Amino acid sequence: MKFFVDTADTAEIRELAETGLLDGVTTNPSLIHKAGRDFLEVTKEIAGLVPGPVSAEVVALDHKEMMREAEVLRKIADNVCIKVPLTLDGLKTCKALTEDGTMVNVTLCFSANQALLAAKAGATFISPFVGRHDDNGFDGMELIRDIRLIYDNYAYDTQILVASIRHSVHVLESAKIGADVATMPPAVIKGLVKHVLTDKGIEGFLADWAKTGQSIG
Ligand code: E4P
Repeated sequence: MKFFVDTADTAEIRELAETGLLDGVTTNPSLIHKAGRDFLEVTKEIAGLVPGPVSAEVVALDHKEMMREAEVLRKIADNVCIKVPLTLDGLKTCKALTEDGTMVNVTLCFSANQALLAAKAGATFISPFVGRHDDNGFDGMELIRDIRLIYDNYAYDTQILVASIRHSVHVLESAKIGADVATMPPAVIKGLVKHVLTDKGIEGFLADWAKTGQSIG
């Protein structure tokens, strides 16, 4: 399973990239606003921090203008993945860009039928938003299960990129279902390593080691 970080904060991305556990980055207009940086400049910096895909989202709603924005974004770096919304114009843009060899992440997916359309449009990634789905009284993980089943039925290559992840159980369930990618806020990635018994175990081992009076090397 690939791990992407869902942020435009370059300090957080750098720290996680140094662990060797990071496979890519996703951003969206809200995360760019939060970072308070110039969109093109911060995307270029992020693309230099990770070798994997860096999603950068278009903001136009019509196909022609989406293509123009995508042209600007894809020139930033080879690992920039163009993010388009799940609309007919977004899907048309996805088809045109992927046929041209550009990676595309189709975002704001809230139904399995939408995910089916994205796969037919040749999307590299589909981003179902599990957290926002849950927030609105639906079952986010059920959506991931349905998309996995449909993509496997037809051997679609589109990768399921679980987005809007809020906590570690979303990650666990996504991995059990066989989602390809999880994009997580930095705190969720860092939280995955934590276990009270790991901390307690280290404490006990170090206390006993101190009693031996030894050192290594
Ligand atoms: C990532 O690609 C999505 O834009 C992001 O995960 C949305 O997360 P949110 O629902 O927490 O804003």
